[in-house]
Amino acid sequence: MRKLFIAGNWKMNKTATEAAQLVSALVKKVEGLSDKVTMAVCPPFTSLDRIAPLLKGTGVDLGAQNLSDKASGAYTGETSAAMLLDLGVKYVIIGHSERRQYYAETDELVSKKAKFALGAGLLPIVCIGETLKEREANKTSHVITTQLKGSLAGLNAEEMHKVTIAYEPVWAIGTGKTASPDQAQEVHALIRKLLTDAFGKAVADKVIVQYGGSVKADNAKELMAKPDIDGALVGGASLDAEGFSALIKNSIS
Ligand code: PGA
Repeated sequence: MRKLFIAGNWKMNKTATEAAQLVSALVKKVEGLSDKVTMAVCPPFTSLDRIAPLLKGTGVDLGAQNLSDKASGAYTGETSAAMLLDLGVKYVIIGHSERRQYYAETDELVSKKAKFALGAGLLPIVCIGETLKEREANKTSHVITTQLKGSLAGLNAEEMHKVTIAYEPVWAIGTGKTASPDQAQEVHALIRKLLTDAFGKAVADKVIVQYGGSVKADNAKELMAKPDIDGALVGGASLDAEGFSALIKNSIS
């Protein structure tokens, strides 16, 4: 039985002051739930340092939304794994579709970042997902297979134990259109099969595969009821304590 993992991806939202307010409210509402569900919030870099102490001992972990594929040096605007670790960051989202779409991140770069994050001691949340055009052209399986293989290239079974996969159909992100539980399960089952082929059943059975794309308090439960959906990567609905805590509670009810 895999323990559900629900992470909030705040994207480019909340100042550090607002982030501290949100986290203070959230941790009260989810107190005591960490035995049943793994929880994390992934604020912008500018809030990490402010909220890390507020999360200590609460059962809610800290994640970042990106990292550099370089260790240090003359890379203006980049953030290294060591910098994140120093602030108490545990998870890092890699290859979100917005990074792929707006910042030209490729599967190759995603795999480099994942390898790098693991080497440094961070736990990657690797995102994959098809666009609407790809789904309508019946290319979903092909796209998922290509992205998964490319994004995990070079990782061994031991490393894979530490990786979370987030399946996020691009057409469902921020659109209010969620994949139906059956549509999502179909892709999650494919991901599980691809992981089994690549890393063996023992590893594939343990890997958490989150669903992401317009997950809300009122649709979380039916998605989480599917056998291969092990949690959620939540954007919009993670931006208020009331809604996000309700989503987490409904997921485990
Ligand atoms: P959404 O975003 O929940 O706002 O659709 C999910 C994500 O992009 O991680």
